[in-house]
Amino acid sequence: MSEHKSSNIVWHKGTVERPEREASNRHRGFTVWFTGLSGSGKSTLSVALEQRLYDMGCRTYRLDGDNVRSGLCRDLAFSPEDRIENIRRIGEVAKLFRDAGIINLTAFISPYRQDRQMARMLSERDANDFIEIYVDAPLSVCEDRDPKGLYKKARAGSIPNFTGISAPYEAPENPEVHVHTGDHSIEECVDQIVAHLLEHEYLHAELAARATRP
Ligand code: ADX
Repeated sequence: MSEHKSSNIVWHKGTVERPEREASNRHRGFTVWFTGLSGSGKSTLSVALEQRLYDMGCRTYRLDGDNVRSGLCRDLAFSPEDRIENIRRIGEVAKLFRDAGIINLTAFISPYRQDRQMARMLSERDANDFIEIYVDAPLSVCEDRDPKGLYKKARAGSIPNFTGISAPYEAPENPEVHVHTGDHSIEECVDQIVAHLLEHEYLHAELAARATRP
């Protein structure tokens, strides 16, 4: 559903725009896009990273697959077409949050490379403000964790199109950050992501110092 169904649409500019919002937030608006198998740790990591950013005084918002699918995307299931539409909508919402100057963290399987690329490229400036995090854990580890009991059901054949079992997952080829949740703790993975954000100046060191103060 990516075609434009209406014409004669003109973007209406405000007087308070992204630069003003970013200046008052004291950080840029950017997207931290977590991708990985179900059970790989996307939601857990996004919650932990959001807490770390919040403690630094950042403005944040988290978009999570299971939550968004109970509202905005409640009409979508897991066919390839529905997943494409799911990610298209999330990509647009993430873009609005960037415009709001807010650090948004998204936790969706987002199994298709092309859709993640589309979400990144929604606007030219935004290509830099999209940090893809590959949450990597072997399928066997995710299946052992099986936090919602879904792998068991998928193996038994009661959930069709289950990512990693009966539907594909296309791993990122060049993610900005690649974390291994099978071998590293959540805190270590958060440290790795924060280090990337500091190194690439998404965050000022002065903000990070705040969170580590006793
Ligand atoms: S995505 O593929 O469209 O990005 P999304 O992240 O929104 O998926 O939703 C995945 C969550 O939905 C999983 O964590 C799991 O709890 C649940 N789920 C239900 N059915 C499926 C399925 N067939 N494949 C994957 N996840 C499913």
